[in-house]
Amino acid sequence: MNFSSDNTTPMSPSILTAIGEANKGFQSSYGSDDYSSQLQEAFSTLFEREVHVFLTNTGTAANSLALSALVRPYESILCSQEAHVFTDECGAPELYTGGSQLITVDGAFGKINPKALERQIEISEAIRPHKQKPGCVSITQATEAGTVYSVEEIQTIAQCCREHNLPLHMDGARFANALVSLGVSPSELTWKSGVDVLTFGATKNGAMCAEAVIFFNPTYAEDFDYLHKRSGQLMSKMRFFSCQFLAYLENDLWIENAQHANAMAISLASAFNRNQTPIINPVQANEVFVSLPAKVASYLEEQGAGFYSWGHVDECMYRFVTTWCTTEKEIIAFESLLEKALKS
Ligand SMILES: Cc1ncc(COP(=O)(O)O)c(C=O)c1O
Repeated sequence: MNFSSDNTTPMSPSILTAIGEANKGFQSSYGSDDYSSQLQEAFSTLFEREVHVFLTNTGTAANSLALSALVRPYESILCSQEAHVFTDECGAPELYTGGSQLITVDGAFGKINPKALERQIEISEAIRPHKQKPGCVSITQATEAGTVYSVEEIQTIAQCCREHNLPLHMDGARFANALVSLGVSPSELTWKSGVDVLTFGATKNGAMCAEAVIFFNPTYAEDFDYLHKRSGQLMSKMRFFSCQFLAYLENDLWIENAQHANAMAISLASAFNRNQTPIINPVQANEVFVSLPAKVASYLEEQGAGFYSWGHVDECMYRFVTTWCTTEKEIIAFESLLEKALKS
């Protein structure tokens, strides 16, 4: 009953096998290996256009590096107040960008509200040069609140970006979960809707520390190889990262894993509904946010269920994450525990 985080999962067996397969003989280093060249092609096929791909070993590095290609130090990054880049990256975006400021934009359920975005840009521009110049917009898909931007919502934000000449970054640590939730193609969810750079996560959905920065707009990728190297993310044995992505994409493993994780979230949400437990955010990907009496939460934890307290402690809000390896059996066991906890 481990619903604490999708980072707690093991690797998908076929990804582990792929690492074993790649562990044969010598290969060129620093991304000049066969696996890495194949991967550039595989991603270009997936996104239906030529893309420029750079791998990193954490999502924080991927996001921060991507943002550093988009903004100058005196510019700002506009994002949701719940964005991982704002709340959980310990100032890495500021460090990598050389001091760019993250400015939050209001919105419900982890999303940016386009009107609030427009307003924030106007406020910043009106007091030039006292406030940082708006430099780019960053959205998270699926969001940190477990919700998903629709294609139309992304297009509206992208339209605002275009009007102000701002590039659009997407933190896709849970891109697969968003994609299967919407049932659209990777291209529709990204560049066709106006996204310039995507952080494409695989770690949470079956890989081991494998994240990719994918540029749809080649202008931003021009000197990125320098930034990548300078940040220590140009791995010498890149084949062991590239091979993971090849296995991840092969036979739609990434889709299958995300479909399973999302289905488990729906199943868990039904268990909460059957027990009259208020669900706080719409369940659209692989996370369920609920309100529970603190005593009930403690009992569940004591009995072995894993989940995180979210927000302020006194709000009694908890996050449950389902993953590619969550089982129905775990959810059934959790539901009977929940029933007991609520009765006692
Ligand atoms: C939305 C989102 N973005 C980025 C990350 C990056 O994670 P890390 O640097 O831990 O790999 C996470 C991890 O929890 C996340 O939830």
